[in-house]
Amino acid sequence: MQKKTLPNKPLTEHSSWKALVAHQQKIAQTSILDHFSKEPNRLDYTTFEWENFYVDVSKNRIDQKGFDLLLQLAEESGLAKAITAQFSGELINHTEQRAVLHTALRTLKKDPVLVDGKNILAEVEAAQNKMFAFCEKVISGDWKGYSGKAITHVVNIGIGGSDLGPAMVVEALAHYQNHLELRFVSNVDGDHHHEALKGLDPETTLFVVVSKTFTTQETLSNANSIRQWFLSKAPESGISKHFIAVSTNLEKTKAFGIDPENTFPMNDWVGGRFSLWSTVGLSICLAVGPDHFKALLQGAGKMDLHFQETSFEKNIPVVLGLLSIWYNNLWGAESEAIIPYTEYLKNLPAYLQQGIMESNGKYVGRDGIPVQYQTGTIIWGASGTNAQHAFFQLIHQGTKLIPADFIGFKKSLNGNVAHQNKLLANFIAQTEALMAGKTKSQVMDELQHSNMSSSLQEALAPFKVFEGNKPTNTLLIEQLSPENLGALIALYEHKIFVQGILWNIYSYDQWGVELGKQLATKVLEDIEGEAAHAHDPSTLKLLSKI
Ligand code: F6P
Repeated sequence: MQKKTLPNKPLTEHSSWKALVAHQQKIAQTSILDHFSKEPNRLDYTTFEWENFYVDVSKNRIDQKGFDLLLQLAEESGLAKAITAQFSGELINHTEQRAVLHTALRTLKKDPVLVDGKNILAEVEAAQNKMFAFCEKVISGDWKGYSGKAITHVVNIGIGGSDLGPAMVVEALAHYQNHLELRFVSNVDGDHHHEALKGLDPETTLFVVVSKTFTTQETLSNANSIRQWFLSKAPESGISKHFIAVSTNLEKTKAFGIDPENTFPMNDWVGGRFSLWSTVGLSICLAVGPDHFKALLQGAGKMDLHFQETSFEKNIPVVLGLLSIWYNNLWGAESEAIIPYTEYLKNLPAYLQQGIMESNGKYVGRDGIPVQYQTGTIIWGASGTNAQHAFFQLIHQGTKLIPADFIGFKKSLNGNVAHQNKLLANFIAQTEALMAGKTKSQVMDELQHSNMSSSLQEALAPFKVFEGNKPTNTLLIEQLSPENLGALIALYEHKIFVQGILWNIYSYDQWGVELGKQLATKVLEDIEGEAAHAHDPSTLKLLSKI
């Protein structure tokens, strides 16, 4: 292995760590509202205007001193050097000996990006141009199916990063979508592809098999079954018109029977969960066309520049990453909620679950030793206002501390002002309610106007009290455009990076998914009667029930 390129020091060994712990203890009983009273200029250091974004982190349990200590921690952790190492193509994915260069797919700079001494930008452009040309042909109807008809439906076959990103973005950009109807098949559950194929006409359907490795059991099983379905209705010669592939593994795509002409290459320096910017985004490009896809890249590219060039105290991904560490490591928060106030982004939490939890769910430090503190955050969420009527009760009055990101858009896409005003009213009211809560005397004031007896009022009051002091970040964005969406996704990607650097873990491998895959292969042999492997009593009994 090549030498390690990232700094290597556990979070708790930085000199500012002790001061940060002491400061957290000092202000633990100070409420967010008290911080506002004590800091008349609080909004000066807790709000950020960038491009079409207004980010407000003022509703957090932190003060200027705590914020400064977090920034000091970021400096001491070598974050600045680490950012340079990532963008310049050093092998920061150390355990897989790979560069991490999804940023090269959207770079707005002309500077060469070197991998093994070779500038990869020409290769990136060639792969993008091939994808754009293909998508234009399909959208315009010039690409014909085996019977001479144009394509009307597209099925993306992939899982994890080869599904979640494309599916989330296609849904998010539905407003910009052309006539093509997109479907996504990911689960190895046969019922999934059975449902996805319902009503499809093989003459007008295009299947995009997306797998970085082209070895993933789920994707290959689905691709094989769907090919059989296709061949039960269409001639073998139709395969080349209806099956295309996206992969790094060109030998395997060929062996699967996909024409090299119809194979869109990606590179091993793009991680699966960061790959929607690459040819893995082909389904996105089909759905919204190359121009919108380019705008998505452009937005991410702008966020990359912000991340690279902005001092830490004004750097949005850095600030959000540090605040997340503040709650995870100093307040014992286990999870974070992501609440987008638009139905278009209802799959954002699921997408970020892979991005964040597959990246930072690691217990071994970059020194090869188990870390002595919590890493990773459990990510969950749903769209607002739906979430308010589902799990917000627990955030408002439960016993757990759940920092939440509220993501909203000033303007709706369809111009329905009355609904948009209500949506935004909820978006803003919730963060205020979470912070301010409701005191017993406020509750009693309200109850006095009811017909209830005073003893009943007294008995009911505790249940109606909101402690408040629940932290939130507000991301208010102009409108859900491809460019703003690109910037938003890139923001969270960089937040992941910041946290991985500070936690001293490797964010870009995913060894934790391997064991389950290995055992599933064995168990399949048991189920299919090809072997009788040794297992624990529980597993053996379960197998006997199948
Ligand atoms: O679940 C593990 C994983 O390797 C993810 O990181 C990846 O996005 C997914 O499987 C799919 O992998 P592939 O694109 O190689 O089929």
